[in-house]
Amino acid sequence: MRRPMYFTGFDCLGCRAAYPPDQDLLLCPKCHDLLEARYDLARFGREVDRDALARRPSGVWRWTELLPVLDPTRIVTLGEGGTPFLRSERLARACGVRELWLKSDAANPTGSLKDRSITVSATKAVEFGYGVLACDSTGNKASSTAAYAARAGLQSVVFCPKDTPRPKMAQAVFFGARLIRVDGHYSQINAMYRRLIASGRVKWYDCGTDNPFRYEGKKTYAYEIAQDLGWRVPDRVLHPAAGGMSLVKTWKGFNELRALGWVDRVPKMTLVQAARCAPIVEAWKQDLPRVAAVEKQSTAASALAAADPGLLGDRALHSVRASGGSGIAVDETEILDAVRLLGQDGLMIEPSGAVTVAAVRRGVRDGSIDPGESVVCVLTGSGFKDFDQILELVEIPSQVIAGYDAMVAEAERIG
Ligand SMILES: Cc1ncc(COP(=O)(O)O)c(C=O)c1O
Ligand SMILES: [Zn+2]
Repeated sequence: MRRPMYFTGFDCLGCRAAYPPDQDLLLCPKCHDLLEARYDLARFGREVDRDALARRPSGVWRWTELLPVLDPTRIVTLGEGGTPFLRSERLARACGVRELWLKSDAANPTGSLKDRSITVSATKAVEFGYGVLACDSTGNKASSTAAYAARAGLQSVVFCPKDTPRPKMAQAVFFGARLIRVDGHYSQINAMYRRLIASGRVKWYDCGTDNPFRYEGKKTYAYEIAQDLGWRVPDRVLHPAAGGMSLVKTWKGFNELRALGWVDRVPKMTLVQAARCAPIVEAWKQDLPRVAAVEKQSTAASALAAADPGLLGDRALHSVRASGGSGIAVDETEILDAVRLLGQDGLMIEPSGAVTVAAVRRGVRDGSIDPGESVVCVLTGSGFKDFDQILELVEIPSQVIAGYDAMVAEAERIG
């Protein structure tokens, strides 16, 4: 079905230059700042009813008109989005907060939040006629890029730090990617990769940090959360951050809903990082105008270890402040405790994706989160993504039984 589109182009967040919707863009060609997609929300609001949208199949493409695609007949999808949204009384009690919800993007096709955005960039690659998808990644973006390239019948090339969790690398290779492991930490690789793309030496479609189409997919978090709550908005949404754009776009999504009059307020946004690599949280705490690079230390939350988030980090800082939210850094013990706590609720989440639960606990304890709040913890990746860390948390019994009598004996012992 052909639907009317409302995407009208991009505005540069730096020099405010405006660009038409059909241009193949990364950063602003004039000043190299980030671009932000613009929509005719007034017309969309007049022509599309929020309850009619709710009757469509769930997922990222329920919101096609609010995404920057021009040809909705050629969408590259694996059924991303529409992920579980679960209230947890147990975690609310453990964290000391009135109402706690989990938004689990572990249920996405490749097991992480990245599918929300890569579905959009893969669709754009098809629209623009590219043959190869590429990205630099701490692992999740790589496996997602590889999967969507496979789905679209395209090639993929992904650059990852050499110590990226093996399941993430295996997934990328499994889907047919050329995986290039690079010495150095993620921000160093990101700088080299962006330089490579900007040099024009390769004709790959960049699904990395400069792609303004891709990020728009992340705002569907806001739409799904608001819709699942019956268009009620929680007091606070906590999101794990590396560069921070997922948080920025979630915030944008809530603001679009408010502009449409579909919700009457927006949440506070709390950005969560591992204390061992927390440049955005540091900038927020010190009230700095911009994010400064930090020395990277290794952390269980390896997907969040962007020591120098650059322009993305500045935007994230801006969104946190505009929302009246906060930045929270959690230490290694708190992160692994949160992974365990989620397990007690039936969810297996990778450490990078579980930091939000750790942050609610910490926030309530230090007084920055009010116990009377309703909070949403976005959980951004499956425990299978970083399975070695799950193996560290458990002991698989070494004893093996044989025969029915032994089984009965065991059963009676357990009771
Ligand atoms: C599991 C997980 N959570 C959160 C993020 C953070 O995303 P962003 O760079 O948009 O802050 C990532 C990014 O790699 C991730 O893999
Ligand atoms: Zn510009």
